[in-house]
Amino acid sequence: MCGIVGYIGERSARDVVIEGLRRLEYRGYDSAGIALVHAGDDGRGAVAARKRAGKLANLEKAISAEELPVSGTGIGHTRWATHGAPNDRNAHPHLGATGRVAVVHNGIIENFAELRAELEDEDHVLLSETDTEVAAHLLEREVVAGADLTTAMQRVCRRLEGAFTLVAVDGQDADRVVAARRNSPLVVGLGERENFLGSDVAAFIEFTRDALELGQDQVVTLTRDGVEVTGFDGTPAQATRYSVDWDLSAAEKDGHDWFMRKEIFEQPRAVADSLLGRWGADGRLQLDEMRLSDDELREIRKIIVIACGTSFYAGMVAKYTIEHWCRIPVEVQLASEFRYRDPILDNDTLVVAISQSGETADTLQAIRHARTQRSKVLAICNTNGSTIPRESDAVIYTHAGPEIGVASTKGFLTQLVACYLLGLYLAQVRGTRYGDEITQIVGQLEEMPAHIQTVLDRAEDVYAMARDHVAAESVLFLGRHAGYPVALEGALKLKELAYIHAEGFAAGELKHGPIALVEDGLPVLCLVPPQGRDQLHDKMLSGIQEVRARGARTICLAEETDTRITPYADALIRLPRVPTLLQPLVAVVPLQLFACELATAKGHDVDQPRNLAKSVTVE
Ligand code: F6R
Repeated sequence: MCGIVGYIGERSARDVVIEGLRRLEYRGYDSAGIALVHAGDDGRGAVAARKRAGKLANLEKAISAEELPVSGTGIGHTRWATHGAPNDRNAHPHLGATGRVAVVHNGIIENFAELRAELEDEDHVLLSETDTEVAAHLLEREVVAGADLTTAMQRVCRRLEGAFTLVAVDGQDADRVVAARRNSPLVVGLGERENFLGSDVAAFIEFTRDALELGQDQVVTLTRDGVEVTGFDGTPAQATRYSVDWDLSAAEKDGHDWFMRKEIFEQPRAVADSLLGRWGADGRLQLDEMRLSDDELREIRKIIVIACGTSFYAGMVAKYTIEHWCRIPVEVQLASEFRYRDPILDNDTLVVAISQSGETADTLQAIRHARTQRSKVLAICNTNGSTIPRESDAVIYTHAGPEIGVASTKGFLTQLVACYLLGLYLAQVRGTRYGDEITQIVGQLEEMPAHIQTVLDRAEDVYAMARDHVAAESVLFLGRHAGYPVALEGALKLKELAYIHAEGFAAGELKHGPIALVEDGLPVLCLVPPQGRDQLHDKMLSGIQEVRARGARTICLAEETDTRITPYADALIRLPRVPTLLQPLVAVVPLQLFACELATAKGHDVDQPRNLAKSVTVE
């Protein structure tokens, strides 16, 4: 949600910032802007700022026609609008009253109305509807009064409420870029006589893999030769250094039309990587990042999974598996609802927060609430050094690599893997499954990359089906048991990418109301549970029959060994035969391909769907 870039060094700041924005554009694409510090006409130094509504390409077009001043100090922003419409005026950077200070911002300054009124009382004229412009005026007021930009940032941040990352430059001080963060992401990239800032490491991965993870309520000052971190009160603070474990190639499309398609095809590798190193020489499962002791895990009486969107659906699968393998009650809660319903928590409750980005504000606030209630929090996360794992008691990192397509794909599959591992680990520690059963399931998990590859090898068939549905106005998805979250995920993918009305239902629930939606020709994607393992298969066939009787056109996803499905399916997508609880890992893949291809056929921007942003850092 908004991408922020900062640079100071010997290179062209314009080029570094634009390139960084290109890599962060998935975070928001309502508008883009850049500010550079240069010598100025009178030699006292000045800011040159340019901004444009719409995608980064609009800004690039605007600045390609003019000579922006040469500069080694700059900041940039790509926006997902919160305060104010996505137009040129509200685009970042915002400038102070005299144009000396430029600021870019991610987050929401909650007390901006009060601060704006204070500034207007002093005859400041604010030009935009944004909360950000208030910060620009406040910072500039401090520097005009004599403070350096670092001190100004510390003073201003002490007055701000809400969540924010701010990055600022002072036109009269080309030797520093200053940033601050509270509840919003920001990382520092460390180079040789140059330093970088980014909402995430993709912004500077081309130049350095050395990074600094900042804490809450910290101000960071970048010069060419160093980085200084303080608290908002000015006291020196430590930041943790780490090395990014992926490189530029992971942030490129690699011959695919969309990042999303590339990420779908990376899933066999992502799943394999997320399983790597989990099996110890002693024949037991090991989760190295698990910072909870076996005794603590044995004391758990209840698990609450909290997450949003696709991650929430991974949590629903976790409920089926953990309850089955460990006999611990599991609740799954939408993070945005969690703390407002006054949940019953105590130190026997383990809260599992699932977040690909590790920055989702709803999930972050939910885990903070859980910790105030003395519950232990375990994060399942794909982003090293992000806020949610840092504020959790334990973490299982997924190893999907950077996910850039706005719609989550490999993030979801690797979250499922982490949930399976967690369930098996708890079963091992608590003795609810025999060691040989755990060994067998781990073995089955290790076979999943090959099964996923089999599904991907049949992508062309799914694409053809998707192209047949470009005119569809509504699509339903039905599933049962572990297939139910997959149905919900399939519907979400289609909504967000193809902008088609799509709903996922538990197949058994259909007759309690939603079947009224079924009319002649309505496409219904049906996730058929494995045949012969329990009664679910028969029940699903009855559900399919009910919608067919009312004119629905059924596209069934069923195992290749399923001998009964053919008469129930107008179209059939075959899935490899895998254990029931692991079926989501293969069943969701055709649904991802379906949504991606349908959206492509409709001419949509698959990587940057309308109104969305990758990482939702506001509540
Ligand atoms: C959908 C999607 C979103 C995210 C949700 C949570 O394709 O990507 O629904 O799953 O915003 O994001 P994380 O997992 O980063 O907390």
